[in-house]
Amino acid sequence: MTTKYEEVYGRSMNDPEGFWADAAEELHWDRKWDKVLDDTKKPFYRWFAGGLLNTCYNAVDRHADGHRGDQPAIIYDSPVTGTVQSITYRELRDHVARFAGVLVQHGVEKGDRVIIYMPMIPEAAVAMLACARIGAIHSVVFGGFAAKELATRIDDAKPKVIVSASCGIEVKRVVEYKPLLDEAIEMAASKPRHTVIYQRPQAKAAMTEGRDLDWAQSVAAAKPVDCVPVEATHPLYILYTSGTTGMPKGVVRDNGGHAVAMKWSMKHIYNVEPGEVYWAASDVGWVVGHSYIVYGPLLQGCTTVIYEGKPVGTPDAGAFWRVIEQHRVETLFTAPTAFRAIKREDPEGEQLKKYDLSHFRNLFLAGERCDPDTLLWAEAQLGVPVIDHWWQTETGWAIAANPMGIEQLPVKPGSPTRAVPGYDVQVLDENGRQMAPGQIGSIVIKLPMPPGCLPTLWGNDERYVKSYLSAYDGYYLTGDAGFKDEDGYLWIMSRIDDIINVAGHRLSTGAMEEVLASHPDVAECAVIGVADTLKGELPLGFVCLKAGVRREEDAIRKELVQLVREKIGPVAAFKTVTVVDRLPKTRSGKILRGTMKKIADGEEYKMPATIDDPSILGEISAALSSIGYARKH
Ligand code: COA
Ligand code: AMP
Repeated sequence: MTTKYEEVYGRSMNDPEGFWADAAEELHWDRKWDKVLDDTKKPFYRWFAGGLLNTCYNAVDRHADGHRGDQPAIIYDSPVTGTVQSITYRELRDHVARFAGVLVQHGVEKGDRVIIYMPMIPEAAVAMLACARIGAIHSVVFGGFAAKELATRIDDAKPKVIVSASCGIEVKRVVEYKPLLDEAIEMAASKPRHTVIYQRPQAKAAMTEGRDLDWAQSVAAAKPVDCVPVEATHPLYILYTSGTTGMPKGVVRDNGGHAVAMKWSMKHIYNVEPGEVYWAASDVGWVVGHSYIVYGPLLQGCTTVIYEGKPVGTPDAGAFWRVIEQHRVETLFTAPTAFRAIKREDPEGEQLKKYDLSHFRNLFLAGERCDPDTLLWAEAQLGVPVIDHWWQTETGWAIAANPMGIEQLPVKPGSPTRAVPGYDVQVLDENGRQMAPGQIGSIVIKLPMPPGCLPTLWGNDERYVKSYLSAYDGYYLTGDAGFKDEDGYLWIMSRIDDIINVAGHRLSTGAMEEVLASHPDVAECAVIGVADTLKGELPLGFVCLKAGVRREEDAIRKELVQLVREKIGPVAAFKTVTVVDRLPKTRSGKILRGTMKKIADGEEYKMPATIDDPSILGEISAALSSIGYARKH
């Protein structure tokens, strides 16, 4: 017997155009598409070619003008400032229309880029939606990145305007954004015409005459502007994500396919109806924030929660339960790390007993591998389904999930369940042959991918093809390795590249190696991701010093940690580096990072057949033991 899921999935495979055309009917189109899927320029596929729509209209105005005008669109809950603020759809429309007016007044036109470097305040979403309103392309940069990372993104996106705030607020410190922004603009070759700065009382930003505009003053002086219909294929945003080199990849998202996928996913994956309260506890700087703090819930007419706090420490491990109770959150989406942090502080769930969570329906986890212990603990504490789902910045929404709005499939802890309708997920060996069930291979998606997935990389079709489409003809390479079991469940095991996942944040060890290698005392280096019970993985550096360096190793180590923090940012969580005489390599000179990782994690490893000098592994093992790693489990 075919299950409901199989029926829906089957239709998405057999009749993708009909399937997605039906989904697109849920949105307001200023002009319907000529072609649902334009495949005339393979491998560059375009969804809803010829169609015109406005994402901001669909996410905000449609609800403000309809019967949701007085419904909260955003609840801003900020334990770090002691603020709770509700913004209705009508108020949101007015804020967005005015801020769009500020952008227009300062020369931003359709297709221009606007970088948004902001903390978790509603103004970040207002700025994003204002760009969407006028067809400008936003690029949000996460606040935990350093000036150099911001400068790299400025040079790639070449924004006309940058929107920022005077500061972000972490648990124990105020992070002043403006000095970082000034430094980044100084470093970048491409200079924005203006910056718009939202002044927060916790830190006042010094303003540069002529270039820096004050948010409040500019908005007060601006005229509201209307939504501009744009082509479905017009970019909505660029979101930079770690690639295998220091240069991040500018993932492009279109307007039409994205809106269709977002809206469809809200119902079919998350099982969320308009009017419900949906909370993604992430940050607008990440893809989860784009898709499920801003666009998904608003397109669905939900109330979204913008939470400026942490799962623990603001003020305690009951913070999430307090927000769920206070705002009547029905669905929560976060990273497993957040639950590991809560579990570590409150293993017995004492905090949970203080709150009424009877209205809470589902918990969704993604962003990193979800260990079964965390999933089972969350399930036992909350008594609701806990759903792991797998996706990445490039796809913008889930590739594999338990589709709660279609039917709930049995949960297998450790697996994000089955392929989402629209995704033909396969596991291939190095020759492109399908792996048998249970056999690990490279996880790929057969082209075309469904609406919402990246059509290309910003200004770099060639890198898009090289990075994602060249390994297997006709397939998109996810970069993850894993397997499918007999029931078609996917199991995501590891990355095939140098990407590591730290607290649900995707980072490139290659980029960290570039920073370490730039230190004058370093001859060679390697960075690996080691297992961590809280953050999933943590970066660990190894350096070999140049001959003749006589300085204290401790001082050098501190400088290296500081250098990564300065060049990449605190988000890298790079705290440990060890000095070794030599690095283990193959005879052709490749550093054996995989073996080093196994030693660090205390796992069994095979002596690599191609190793040049096996005795170096003993040295690595000793170095790791001296700093608390390499323990056998
Ligand atoms: N601006 C400036 N700095 C930031 C920042 C921001 N927006 N976000 C994080 N940082 C800093 C932190 O202050 C910390 O700095 P430190 O080294 O001085 O302590 C560093 O970056 C690492 O941050 P984080 O990974 O958040 O670690 P943490 O120790 O502060 O908190 C958790 C640990 C588990 C509570 C936290 O990682 C968390 O809430 N994770 C939830 C997962 C999540 O949101 N994932 C996003 C993808 S879904
Ligand atoms: P990002 O682009 O930052 O969202 O990171 C995407 C990567 O995180 C994926 O390619 C995976 O390596 C990892 N990831 C995300 N979600 C999951 C999950 N549910 N299970 C396992 N790995 C995941």
